[in-house]
Amino acid sequence: MARKIAVTSALPYANGPIHLGHLVEYLQTDIWVRFQKMCGNECLYFCADDTHGTPIMISARKAGIDPEELIGRMQKEHKADFDGFHIEFDNYYSTHSPENKHFSELIFNRLNEAGSIVTRDVEQTYCENCRMALPDRFVRGVCPKCKAEHQYGDSCEVCGTTYRPSDLINPYCATCGATPTLKTSEHYFFKLADYEQQLRDLITKGHTQKSVANKLDEWFTAGLKDWDISRDGPYFGFKIPGEENKYFYVWLDAPIGYMASAKNYCDKNNLDFDKLWPGTGSTPSDSGDYELYHFIGKDIMYFHALFWPAMLIGAGIKSAEKLFIHGFLTVNGEKMSKSRGTFIRASTYLKHLDPESLRYYYAGKLTDSIDDIDLKFEDFINKINSDVVGKFANLASRSGPMLTKQLDAQLGQLDAQGRELIDKLVAAKDGIIDDYENLRYAAAVRSIVALADEANRYVEQNQPWVTIKTDPEKTRTVLTATLNAVRILTIYLKPIMPKYAEKVEQFLGIKPLSFADIGSVLENHKINHFERLAERIDEKQVNAMVEESKEGQVAQPAESPAEPFKPECTIDDFAKIDLRIAKVLKAESVEGADRLLHLVLDVGGGIEKNVFAGIATAYQPEQLNGKMVVFLANLKPRKMKFGLSEGMILASGSGGKDIFMLTADPGAQPGQEIH
Ligand code: MSP
Ligand code: ZN
Repeated sequence: MARKIAVTSALPYANGPIHLGHLVEYLQTDIWVRFQKMCGNECLYFCADDTHGTPIMISARKAGIDPEELIGRMQKEHKADFDGFHIEFDNYYSTHSPENKHFSELIFNRLNEAGSIVTRDVEQTYCENCRMALPDRFVRGVCPKCKAEHQYGDSCEVCGTTYRPSDLINPYCATCGATPTLKTSEHYFFKLADYEQQLRDLITKGHTQKSVANKLDEWFTAGLKDWDISRDGPYFGFKIPGEENKYFYVWLDAPIGYMASAKNYCDKNNLDFDKLWPGTGSTPSDSGDYELYHFIGKDIMYFHALFWPAMLIGAGIKSAEKLFIHGFLTVNGEKMSKSRGTFIRASTYLKHLDPESLRYYYAGKLTDSIDDIDLKFEDFINKINSDVVGKFANLASRSGPMLTKQLDAQLGQLDAQGRELIDKLVAAKDGIIDDYENLRYAAAVRSIVALADEANRYVEQNQPWVTIKTDPEKTRTVLTATLNAVRILTIYLKPIMPKYAEKVEQFLGIKPLSFADIGSVLENHKINHFERLAERIDEKQVNAMVEESKEGQVAQPAESPAEPFKPECTIDDFAKIDLRIAKVLKAESVEGADRLLHLVLDVGGGIEKNVFAGIATAYQPEQLNGKMVVFLANLKPRKMKFGLSEGMILASGSGGKDIFMLTADPGAQPGQEIH
């Protein structure tokens, strides 16, 4: 009986590009889904962009666009990256969708009715200047424990202490530098501890891998705390029912996005959502027809193993059969790094290398454990060149062209020795299937490579390039066995390298392969012209990719649309602005703010002004001394962590190295008005 399965990957944040770290997860999931489909099972793969929260709101503000527009652009970019790596979702949706709003409200209301939601006052850090409550990561200051400067509001990167933003010494707003205040506000909390017993039962039933169950045990021992699920406006998200200025915290509606994506798919495809994900309807439903699995990284375990199932249980909705949790990607043994050029975007990789090389390499590393996996460039190049090119593609390229050119492209029949080879390959089937099913891709790849070695040995022994001169029919028999071996190896590799498999199917002149085809052989069959199946990787390609990934060199996408104009302003609005010529008397860098320069300006009439300008990525302080600049003189002074900023200087450009100060004629007089 074919199984019915629904699968999700974690929803990537809409405020950043897809990188090689993310791809561990999306490739792990895509391989599993393709494997299931090849086994004849129905397997639906759902995902979406995770679009809500403060960082996205702030990015949009900075870009001068609506958050809706920002998330629209990001969704397109993400989709293009996933397509580029042949990651095939059945539906890729957005958490900013009507379905998600509906389910978020439904779940919240049901939890509320169950008595699992409480409200209470919390003290939160607030920036008067930005007019918003600051999430922990948007407050910085001196660590209360080790006194390291410029630490985030939740924990110190130097000594590892965790604390609240209000514990920071000399806190400042990470966006504008102003000193935040404390404000009291009522927040909603979800009483996670109400569900401790059900969560424990779930885990006992095998909801996660063993190693994860131990981690969860630690969390139970530490005690389950209430979870703060509301945020005050301004916030980009869904309003809490009955509230004017309170929103669901992004992590409340994010996992509900899995359901929203599935629901959207069901509606488009005339499928009964209640059968796929039971429990959201007004009447109780049976247990449904689908197995449900979430693929996630180990960093978001707490949300998926505790909050998410507890919310579902509380709301009477089905929770997943199992979580598949993977470790983190390191590159050359270290955390991905922008300065070393190992923080590599999916789109950058695709400019230099074949997506299936990464698919193959990751598969060769992935196990069912939550250990980190390392992308070692040297090893990557070797694996592709020796396995994919040297073993798999080579087997085909040493037999295919000979058959097409010299033996009318016609396969013959297997003899006893050929049969023996094919039987060996077929016998590995159950083991390989079991490895795929249980996420032991590395073991599957090891078996497949060993089988390819076997097949290559068979060719060495039979030397078709010698016998072709004397015994064409014997040669045809050998090439028939070899190409049947290629066919079976291709079935095994197809979840990992779908495009490679397509090329083989094309050249063998056969229908798309699935696991059911392992039982049959290809005899007395005409094949097509042979096309190269894989290319060697040269170290230069990897180096070029790393160079391009080094911070500051990432080119702006050329096709990125122009930013829309702000609302109209009148000549009177404009007349309020007082622009003056000013002379830079002093310029210096600001410790703890890489982008800022501190300028002292002569603005005429013997008056000096302090300005903190975000131009340090483009100018060295010493380049600026004596320069005549254009100064916005009547801007309301702003208190920053580093001092008072008493105006602005004018510049243009897209940021980074491309910032061009508007300068004036060196003969101009400081204080001179500009009309
Ligand atoms: N938006 C949340 C998930 C919400 S799910 C309801 C999020 N997004 S993320 O973009 O930061 O990460 C998406 C997935 O990619 C997560 O499962 C995360 O673990 C995984 N990875 C992100 N960086 C990774 C590595 N460097 N290595 C491996 N996986 C990584 O978390
Ligand atoms: Zn601020």
